[in-house]
Amino acid sequence: MKLFVDTDAGVDDALALLFALGTPEAEILGIGTVDGNVPLKNVVENVFEVLHAAGAAVPVYLGASRPIVPEPRERATFFHGEDGLGNLRERRARVRPEPTPAALALVELARKHPGEVRAVALGPLSNLALALLLEPELPHLLEGLYLMGGAHTGRGNTKRRAAEFNFAADPEAAHAVLAGFPRVTLLTWETTLAHPLPWEVHEALGQRFPFYRAITGVTARYLRQKGLPGLLIPDPLAMAAALFPELKTETKETGALVELGGVHTRGMLVTGGEEKNAELVLGVDLPGFVHRLEAALSRALGE
Ligand code: BDR
Ligand code: CA
Repeated sequence: MKLFVDTDAGVDDALALLFALGTPEAEILGIGTVDGNVPLKNVVENVFEVLHAAGAAVPVYLGASRPIVPEPRERATFFHGEDGLGNLRERRARVRPEPTPAALALVELARKHPGEVRAVALGPLSNLALALLLEPELPHLLEGLYLMGGAHTGRGNTKRRAAEFNFAADPEAAHAVLAGFPRVTLLTWETTLAHPLPWEVHEALGQRFPFYRAITGVTARYLRQKGLPGLLIPDPLAMAAALFPELKTETKETGALVELGGVHTRGMLVTGGEEKNAELVLGVDLPGFVHRLEAALSRALGE
C-alpha cells in the first residue's frame, strides 16, 4: 500500500506517522506538511523528529503556511505543547525538506502511480485543495482519500463550536476537497471522543516506548485534568481506517459539505442529502486497533 501523508504534526499526527512507519504493508512515499496545530516551521521540525525516532528516511515537503482565506489562527498548543510535540526536550533530527511544494509533490506522486496512492490528511486541507487545483483529475489518480476532520453531530472542538479543528482551520480548503472528491472517508471528532485510548493502555505504551512517553505527556495531563477516560487519538484512528479497513465496525454513507458562512458554524461539516460522497467512520474495533498500534510502535521504535 502506497501512502502520502499530509500533516500538521501534532502529537496525535506523530503517533499516526509512527503507526504507518511501523506497518510493513504500508510504504510512505512522501509527507506533506501544513500549518495548523502549530506554525509550519514547528510542524516540519516535528515530522523530522518522528522520522529520526523511527530511523526512517521519507521525503518531507513544505506545504501551506496559512489557510486559503487568511484569518487569525486558532492554535492547539494546550493540547500538543508549545512546539506541537509535547514540549520535547531533546531535538536530534536534521531538518531537510525537499524543494518541491507539498501540493505539487502529491500531484506528481499520484501521476507517477495512478490508482495506487492512498492519501491520508491529518491536518487542515490547504495542500489537498491546492493539489486539486493543480490537477483536477487527482480524485481519479489517487486510490483513496482518508481525512481526520469534521464533527458529524455538530459538536466540534474549536471556538466556533460546531466546527472541528482541521475543517475550521481552512474552511475553503475543506469545502473544495469535499466538493471535488466523489468519495472520501472521514474520521470525525465525535468518533474520536467515542474511542479514547484507555489510560492503562497509554501507561503501558509509555513504559515500553520512551519516545511515546516524551511526546504524549502534555496531552495526557490536559485530558486527565478534564476527566477524560483516555488519550484522544483522532489522527491514529484516521490512519487505522486507511491502513486496516477491517477495523471499521460501523460506517455510514452520506453527503458531506462544509459551511463557509456562519458566525458559529463557519467550517462546520454538513451531512445528508441525495448525493453520497463520504463514508463516515462511526465505530472502530478498539482492541484490534491497540493490538496493531502496539505492534507498529514496536517495529517503528525498535523496542
Ligand atoms: C485534529 O486537530 C488536531 O488538533 C489533531 O491533530 C487532529 O488532526 C482534531 O480536531
Ligand atoms: Ca492533526
